[in-house]
Amino acid sequence: MNNKGVTLWFTGLSGSGKTTIAKEVERKLKAWGYKVERLDGDIVRTNLSKGLGFSKEDRDTNIRRIGFVAKLLSRNGVVAITAAISPYRDIRDEIRQMTESFVEVYVKAPLEVCESRDVKGLYARARAGEIKNFTGIDDPYEEPLHAEVVCDTQTESIEESADQVLAVLENLGYIQVQEVPNHKI
Ligand code: ADX
Repeated sequence: MNNKGVTLWFTGLSGSGKTTIAKEVERKLKAWGYKVERLDGDIVRTNLSKGLGFSKEDRDTNIRRIGFVAKLLSRNGVVAITAAISPYRDIRDEIRQMTESFVEVYVKAPLEVCESRDVKGLYARARAGEIKNFTGIDDPYEEPLHAEVVCDTQTESIEESADQVLAVLENLGYIQVQEVPNHKI
């Protein structure tokens, strides 16, 4: 398939559901024959961004690296899915400006919800003062103002959120949704 690539940029608090929705979107797109790469914050930080911390400067460096790779991939026909907190609006907008095809997905869940999920136990450690500059606790998260998609993970199922993302990609002309029964993919 000779597809138009796109950078699909997930942003949201830790525990909001970015990775979960991104994986579901990735799974369906691959089943439909699209070329997909997922650049997940936690994975990128173990290789491409190894050694970076969580100051604004280091987060900006991390996001610029992810944005750079996503741009290279997407201009070669790949759906490049990124899933990093990317808390700063100015850097997200900078990546949007430099990337030809950029679709922002705000994975929205109240801090209390993310904190109650506490999948990795990090919120508890941040509250205990063991981790400093934790996003949402003692470090900022700047909500997107013009995201193409907003996923409300407090009320939507994973599948609903993923399907909403796929529908927007289709409306914008990047993909064609295929009506394959879900149990078959
Ligand atoms: S970003 O701000 O640079 O976009 P990124 O998504 O790569 O962050 O990494 C966030 C992940 O690192 C979190 O999901 C969490 O597991 C871990 N982490 C460790 N320390 C922090 C911190 N101070 N703030 C946020 N996340 C942290």
